[in-house]
Amino acid sequence: MRKFCSLLLVFISPVLMAVASLPVYLDDSKPIEERIEDALSRMTLEEKIAMCHAQSKFSTPGCPRLGIPEIWMSDGPHGVRMEFVWDDWEHAGWTNDSCTAYPALTCLAATFNPELSYLYGKALGEEARFRKKDIILGPGVNIYRTPLSGRNFEYMGEDPFLSSRMVVPYIQGVQQNGVAACMKHFVLNNQEKWRDVINVEVSDRALYEIYLPAFKAGVTEGNIWAVMGSYNKYKHEYCSHNDLLINKILKADWGFDGVLVTDWGSAHDTEQAARNGLDIEMGTWTNGLTWGISSAYDNYYMAQPFLKKIQSGELPESLLDEKIRRILRLGYRTNMNKSRPLGCKLTPEHTEISRKVAEEGIVLLKNQKNFFPIEKGRYKKIAVIGENAIKKLTQGGGSSELKPQKEITPLQGMIEKYGEEHILFSQGYASGPPDYSRELPSGLDADSLVVAAVEIAKEADVVLFFGGLNKNFQQDCEGDDRINMDLPYGQNELIEKILEVNKNTGIIIISGNAVSMPWLNRINGLIQSWYLGSQAGKATAGVISGRVNPSGKLPFSIPVKLEDNSAHYFGQMSYPGDSINQYYMDDIFVGYRWHDRKKIKPQFPFGYGLSYTTFHYEKLSTDKKNYHPEESIKVSFMISNEGEKAGAEIVQIYMTQKNPSVERPVKELKGFDKIYLQPGEKNK
Ligand code: BGC
Repeated sequence: MRKFCSLLLVFISPVLMAVASLPVYLDDSKPIEERIEDALSRMTLEEKIAMCHAQSKFSTPGCPRLGIPEIWMSDGPHGVRMEFVWDDWEHAGWTNDSCTAYPALTCLAATFNPELSYLYGKALGEEARFRKKDIILGPGVNIYRTPLSGRNFEYMGEDPFLSSRMVVPYIQGVQQNGVAACMKHFVLNNQEKWRDVINVEVSDRALYEIYLPAFKAGVTEGNIWAVMGSYNKYKHEYCSHNDLLINKILKADWGFDGVLVTDWGSAHDTEQAARNGLDIEMGTWTNGLTWGISSAYDNYYMAQPFLKKIQSGELPESLLDEKIRRILRLGYRTNMNKSRPLGCKLTPEHTEISRKVAEEGIVLLKNQKNFFPIEKGRYKKIAVIGENAIKKLTQGGGSSELKPQKEITPLQGMIEKYGEEHILFSQGYASGPPDYSRELPSGLDADSLVVAAVEIAKEADVVLFFGGLNKNFQQDCEGDDRINMDLPYGQNELIEKILEVNKNTGIIIISGNAVSMPWLNRINGLIQSWYLGSQAGKATAGVISGRVNPSGKLPFSIPVKLEDNSAHYFGQMSYPGDSINQYYMDDIFVGYRWHDRKKIKPQFPFGYGLSYTTFHYEKLSTDKKNYHPEESIKVSFMISNEGEKAGAEIVQIYMTQKNPSVERPVKELKGFDKIYLQPGEKNK
């Protein structure tokens, strides 16, 4: 027996010795902070410099000599984007890089359902993990300030409370996969026009009460591991290396211990990048997105110029070490975390989550004479008119473009639901293929499209017009804003012509932004839909047919006209500025806070949305007479479903302050809950 034991020891001891001699940075049993210090102490100056800037369009190099992996990133925020060639914005053309496309974040916000936000994040994180991504470039939480902003569809609406509640579970869902979420664009990137240069002047109060809260919640409650700096300036300093925003607010006040990544090409100065909290510089060229030298990574502000300044003593190496600590921490949380799950992609659960978010986000805005739901069999001939019934809306829009494995269009959904023999389709209007920097011609004759559409409208028992915006240039698209609030491509004129021949018309607006609705009084039904992703058609037909009882609520106000919106009320210097500066003169009165203050009736208010059933509230009471912001307050009421269909109501609690010492909004959202009730059911 003794002999056996000693033999065993002989065999085990080399193994034990190997474990014992593992360098600390590789030793899982050691605390992460200790491992970070150990790795840092082994790295040369050049190795550290290499880690804080890109080596390709979407990756940084890690430290190959020490086995510290590359960091791989992907957009974001609605699915895992297709692969790109190493050093170009060209799609790599892989055949294994398709994804599940989830609905745009406006839709997620419209669900008012944090549990769904968690499932969304979890599913997205699983796909990102499977695709070997360490950072997913999302979610976006810039506040919806103007309906012209080209990227509102990637954000969570106009209210800081709603976006804060929705962003936290998204982050937690993503990160439980060992994939970092990267909240963007920090901060004040509330328009795309002149986004690369504009200096935003905003009061401290508006900054803290409106524009920062969702970011703060993402950091302090969501424990996010990465944040992306925006392109624009604040206090004349670029936001991606802005001392006040990054060093003081994000890192010191909120305790953010993750990495601050630039937006692509948003670094502009080595000294500021070094000192003002930037950790990783990403981009295309050396100077933003505009001009460059191919494979210019060595010329990045955080590359050779940074190295030289450290070597010459102009900048202390401690600044670099602080960045590397954060980058290593990100590594230990993601690709050096051996116990992170494996991820998965394109699962039936992912499809289900995508569909569920889409179904819960669709908002019913008008329903005259029970126009909706259109139950199967109610009409013989349903005219489906409009390009958005067939356009693949996961494409275009800029960096959030996706390559879904499948995308069910609204027309496909309608045909599947009602049968081909009952659907008459006509495109009605046409846009060109999506392009980031210009509107390409469509190649179809506009007049003939109108004639054909009016023909089928005449013939049909009911008309459903699928229009709105799309992801083309100056629509819902990154890099520029819309030019006005109207429907593009002659849609308003087409709707007028349809109404002349068929009054039984309903409209489905697909967009990430409010559009003007000159025809509103003459249509019977109106649905605000969104970029819904892979299951778009299924979800849309589900709501139209009544399989799904709509419960979505608007995450932004829809003004009657542009001038009714807070940003536009003050004229050009408020929006879009003079290309150098802009002033947020609307201050804290953004969205519904503005409509309330000026008593300007919106076309549809924030939080609005109809159902196929009716809810009744009664016995409202609170446990305190006076509300103090630091205390919680219990609000009780009875709610009952008085209709004949099961459905969900989003209960929204708004607060107001009597005789405030400073001017406050008339009301502010402070709580919400989603309550599902069967017909006749009551709940307290
Ligand atoms: C966008 C970011 C995006 C990045 C990478 C930038 O142009 O503003 O949101 O994550 O590109 O594609």
